[in-house]
Amino acid sequence: MAVLEISDLVVSWDPATRQRLPVVKADVVARLRAAADARAARIVERIPTDGPNLDDAAVDRLLVRAHTELQRLGEELHMAQRFAEMLVPVLAAARDGGVHPLRVVDIGCGLGYVVRALASSGVLGPDVELIGVDFNPALVGEAQRLAVEERLPCRFVCGDAFALDEDATLYLSNGVLHHFPADALGTFFRAQDRPATAAFVHYDIAATRLAPLGAWIYHRARMREPLGRHDGVASARRAHGDDVLLAAAAQASGMETFLFEPTRHANPFCAAMRPVIGIRPALTARFRAELGRRAKGLVGPR
Ligand SMILES: C[S@@+](CC[C@H](N)C(=O)[O-])C[C@H]1O[C@@H](n2cnc3c(N)ncnc32)[C@H](O)[C@@H]1O
Repeated sequence: MAVLEISDLVVSWDPATRQRLPVVKADVVARLRAAADARAARIVERIPTDGPNLDDAAVDRLLVRAHTELQRLGEELHMAQRFAEMLVPVLAAARDGGVHPLRVVDIGCGLGYVVRALASSGVLGPDVELIGVDFNPALVGEAQRLAVEERLPCRFVCGDAFALDEDATLYLSNGVLHHFPADALGTFFRAQDRPATAAFVHYDIAATRLAPLGAWIYHRARMREPLGRHDGVASARRAHGDDVLLAAAAQASGMETFLFEPTRHANPFCAAMRPVIGIRPALTARFRAELGRRAKGLVGPR
């Protein structure tokens, strides 16, 4: 039975024009009921409508609320620090290899928590440009508002992260990989194997047997928005296994690809998030040197 996330179903974009399309509430409810997810169907039934369609403004408010909660969970899981632990060595290797400019693009940034936190700490250095990109204008608008309010050196763009005017030196994402079906992951990784791009770092939920239970306990305790509680557990159920991720990442054939501290090396009670990393072979030795003892945590495709 398909595991669905409500946040994927309540907004829809025209793939060609990226214009927002109306979403018929009864269709979403029917899909969730067909997936035997009555609880999710009830959450959607409570969303206000505009005629037969979900009300766009109400959906936007709901998604901003859920992502604001998600930001708090991201802070508790030290996601910005975890990204910095990987990005600082990758960027040091890129500088050493003469890569210029250093432009980091967050694919599917949501409210841009990771980008804003990295900009706020300055940990990556003043020569690094930070950009968050998301299809959803409500999330991007809120991300930009918060960045301006905090006077942060970063910016946010609404659209497709792979269609920016300038390519990224380094792509990252947080909690996005499980939104793609396994057979679409190869396309996602191949899109990052472009000449200007030196590396990627994508964190997602480690697919351990205990992940759904852990996510349920954690979201019951810490997530206040029902949509977020539902989707948090669904995310853990949808998370891709190590071998699936490594095989897909290897399709970026110009990169060396790794998982960092994959689940078979981790305590299943603690392995909440772990990154898939791709880096140009010319930069790998320096990356490993920068990681020092932690380089032992890098595992490549079998
Ligand atoms: C789970 S949400 C993101 C959560 C966010 N990264 C965070 O840390 O809170 C997934 C987002 O990815 C966005 N997305 C997926 N593919 C994208 C792409 N190619 N370009 C821009 N946004 C994308 C969707 O619009 C959606 O808002």
